[in-house]
Formats: sequence, C-alpha cells, structure tokens
Amino acid sequence: MNYFLTPLIIILSMSLWFGKADSTIQAEQQTEQQDNTIDYKKEGQEIIRNTFLALNNQLRQAMEEGGPEYAIRFCKIAALPITDSMSTQYSASIRRVSENYRNPNNAPQDEELAVLKVMEIADKTGVTTSEMIIFHDDHTDYYAPITVGPHCLKCHGVPLEDFDEEHARLISSLYPDDKATGYKQGDLRGIWHIRFNK
Ligand code: HEC
Repeated sequence: MNYFLTPLIIILSMSLWFGKADSTIQAEQQTEQQDNTIDYKKEGQEIIRNTFLALNNQLRQAMEEGGPEYAIRFCKIAALPITDSMSTQYSASIRRVSENYRNPNNAPQDEELAVLKVMEIADKTGVTTSEMIIFHDDHTDYYAPITVGPHCLKCHGVPLEDFDEEHARLISSLYPDDKATGYKQGDLRGIWHIRFNK
C-alpha cells in the first residue's frame, strides 16, 4: 500500500469510528430522555473521577507516610482491591488497561486492545483523544484515555532520570516483567474501561 495514503486512511477510519461513537452517544441521550435509561457518558465519567480520586488519595497518603518505596509496595497490594471495591459500589466492572502494563492483570483483552490501538494512533497523530462508548446486546463499554501527569513519573517515568537506581531495582523486584516505565508527562498511559451489564 502507498505509504502516504496509509496514515490518511487510518485517520479517516478513526474519525468515522469516533463519529459513530458520537452519534451513538446522542442516540443514547435521546433514549434516556424518553425512558430514563442510563446516561453512560455521565455515569462513566463519574466512576472514573471517583475511582481516580480513591486511588490517588491513598497513593498520596502512602507517599507522605513512607516515600515512593513504601507507596509502590502499597500500590501493589491496594490498587486492584480499590478498583474492585469501586466496581461493587457502582455495579459496573472497572479496569485500567495498558499495553505497557505493570501488572499482567491489566493487559488488554479483545475489544480493549482495539480501542487502545485507536487511541494510541490518535494520540501519535495529534488527534484529540476522547471517550468512546460501544454498545453490545448484553452490555455497554465506556472507554477513556489515561494520561501521564507529573506525579506519575516517580513510578512510570524514565529510570535514572525521574527515579534512582534503587527505586528501579525495587520496581523490577516487585514486577519482574514490568513494561510501565519510560513515560513522559502528557503521554498516553492507557485506558479506563467501564463495563455496564444490562
Ligand atoms: C508510587 C508509585 C506509583 C505512582 C506515583 C503511580 N503509579 Fe501507576 N502503578 C503503580 C503500580 C505499582 C502499579 C501496578 C498496580 C497493581 O499491581 O495492580 C500501577 C499501575 C498503573 C496502571 C494500570 C496498568 C498497569 O500498568 O498495570 C495505570 C493505568 C497507572 N498505574 C497509571 C498511573 C498514573 C496515570 C499515575 C499518575 C496519576 C500513576 N500511575 C502513578 C505505581 C505507581
């Protein structure tokens, strides 16, 4: 295939996909007004906001109590239980997924992989990435990008630049197959995946 055409086709098919997601969102909003079904966009955003806050508050507290070494050990034990408890609270499955995962439980599955690819291409080509909603017969999936902020670099940044050798060794001892370092501020770190079952 012509190498100049390929990116164009990718961007075009992406805008079609995002366009499609938008029109389904609008269709959903109209349905909501008629029969009070869930507003997946609003609900998804709220779940993400509160799960992020729950994770971040506990992480910040652990950092204050014992510095990054203590915080990373805390994260290993607490991150999945915190997301699981939010899943129970909201009756929706909540996942944070990345191709460059630290915990193999967060490796992308099926549709997640396709959504990640679209968001990665969008990010690389400078297209603003936003959320996506995909409707299925028995469930609805809500996805949103996760971006690297300044506080994330202590554990996901560039080794020996953002953290020292001792911290790098601790990460590899806790996660021997870690793929989640080398990030810069503003990079796409992964995606949120919220699944609402019908
Ligand atoms: C104190 C260290 C630390 C900081 C700071 C930190 N993380 Fe993590 N992060 C971890 C650990 C440890 C895991 C693996 C958790 C587990 O085992 O479930 C993780 C997992 C993740 C995951 C799930 C995918 C994966 O790689 O397993 C995402 C997404 C993520 N972090 C994003 C962020 C973002 C965004 C920030 C900043 C807002 C951040 N992290 C700050 C330590 C940290």
